Amino acid sequence: MMGFVSLVGAGPGVKDHLTVRAYDRLQRADLVLYDALVDESLLEIAQGAQRFFVGKRAGRHSIGQSTIEGLLVRYAKEGKRVVRLKAGDPFVLGRGGEEALTLAAAGVPYEIVPGLSSALAAPAFAGIPVTHRRSTSSFVMLSGHAPSAYGPLVDALPPNVTTLVILMGFKRRDDIVRRLLGGGWRGSTPAAIVAGAGTPEQTLWLGDLASLSTTDFDPRGAPVTLVVGDNVDLAHHIQPPAAVDDEDSLVRNDAPASSQALVRPSKMRTQS
Ligand SMILES: C[S@@+](CC[C@H](N)C(=O)[O-])C[C@H]1O[C@@H](n2cnc3c(N)ncnc32)[C@H](O)[C@@H]1O
Repeated sequence: MMGFVSLVGAGPGVKDHLTVRAYDRLQRADLVLYDALVDESLLEIAQGAQRFFVGKRAGRHSIGQSTIEGLLVRYAKEGKRVVRLKAGDPFVLGRGGEEALTLAAAGVPYEIVPGLSSALAAPAFAGIPVTHRRSTSSFVMLSGHAPSAYGPLVDALPPNVTTLVILMGFKRRDDIVRRLLGGGWRGSTPAAIVAGAGTPEQTLWLGDLASLSTTDFDPRGAPVTLVVGDNVDLAHHIQPPAAVDDEDSLVRNDAPASSQALVRPSKMRTQS
């Protein structure tokens, strides 16, 4: 009998961000293939499943994309319920589209279980509304991984009309900032670096576009999302002020212990 593949988004950070559907698929899985950035505590939900790490980790050999796709097809054809678990949403910079196409071509039944993408969650956890009636009703998400991919879009964006959410762009921020300034964006445009969004270690840097490339902010190995646009300034008001420098008040006192990670605001660093 043919098995089934669920391409599942795990959301960012800790396991509280999983959808009910994703939780159900993990509970019923025979096999889980998971990526880097997936919170490994999620694997405890898949009690009866075999679990394989297939992601990339710095300095270590990683399994190629075609091998992963081959494994999905093979295990499904062996009759297994397979969960392909990815951080955030599987169709946002997660190669979920390629995997779905391979499964479709191979005649393997599959489903997509969307997840909370860091593209939305990182700004939200930092107190940045990506849209706001007063300023902009749009946001643009882009990958900062390779200039060949983001360059034409960044160069063509009209200045200061939208909120930019940039994934995988921390190392390329010099180039991205240079292009934005060259395209007429104000150097004083508010900008943020959100590291480890949705985790108890979340940190937030708030400054402006001009200083985004010169800051010595260290994300300490956590994944980073950059946000640029006038709405970023709202984080100063939406983040509880206590988050700035009072470690003891990082957890709201009225929150039950189990939900403390959800309400914990960022350790915030503002531009000096
Ligand atoms: C390969 S992309 C995958 C995105 C994922 N599919 C999603 O929807 O969130 C990885 C990038 O997502 C962003 N990211 C993932 N988790 C994050 C987190 N907890 N905090 C901030 N950014 C995060 C970072 O920009 C990271 O380099």
